Amino acid sequence: MKQASDLYIPFEWERRRPILLEKCLYVPDHYDGHDQLAIDWNDPAVFEKKQPLVVEYCSGNGQWIAMMAKQNPLLNWVAVEMDFERARKIWLKIFRQNLPNLFVVYGEGLTFSRHYLPDKSVHEAYVNFPDPWPKRRHAKHRLISDAFVSEMDRILQPGSSAILTTDDAAYSDWIIRRFSQWQSAFAPMQYTTEWPSFGDSYFYSLWLGQQRTIRFHRFISKKVRGEVRGRGI
Ligand SMILES: C[S@@+](CC[C@H](N)C(=O)[O-])C[C@H]1O[C@@H](n2cnc3c(N)ncnc32)[C@H](O)[C@@H]1O
Repeated sequence: MKQASDLYIPFEWERRRPILLEKCLYVPDHYDGHDQLAIDWNDPAVFEKKQPLVVEYCSGNGQWIAMMAKQNPLLNWVAVEMDFERARKIWLKIFRQNLPNLFVVYGEGLTFSRHYLPDKSVHEAYVNFPDPWPKRRHAKHRLISDAFVSEMDRILQPGSSAILTTDDAAYSDWIIRRFSQWQSAFAPMQYTTEWPSFGDSYFYSLWLGQQRTIRFHRFISKKVRGEVRGRGI
């Protein structure tokens, strides 16, 4: 049985580089050589089966995505988490819960997306309870930014969705404003506060227990472009 210590980055920070480990991709920060490693998401070293890819950013301890991977074995699930101890917890779940369709990325979400996800490669993207960074001077730390929405536009397949969940009303408004600026790419959307089949996560249970209202947003990629429009049809 795997132990937490079985997952480690085999070099010092000064010698950092992206590396594909067993069921884990390490994406270093403050690094500009990402192009030296290309990930083939259909490689059996990554996922046993070639299946549609679903990405969750900000996975925390992985409770939600492990449950999703178990319930949806015909999809390949990628958990993205920038805290190493939490990434490790997700990694352990892959082996302890026998989830060959789950893979973990230890790294920052926007950086990972930009360098390791090809155009139109993602069937669905989730962000569950991203840190809201409520103070204006901390807004630069928010994952959801114009750059992130642009990435969603690039990586999502036409007709597929980015689904974002938060208990923070101000962050919800911010998210809606960011996606609204891409009206040509995403169908307009507000949010719903009820989604019985959402699943469960540490922060979902925490906020529900405090009677907080949770907002679920779904932004559907409506783009039809590339080859088809390029030919003037
Ligand atoms: C509030 S927790 C939510 C965890 C989990 N989704 C849940 O519902 O319990 C936010 C998590 O996102 C991670 N995180 C924050 N910003 C991130 C980023 N830019 N890229 C990847 N992970 C990030 C944090 O380390 C933390 O584990």
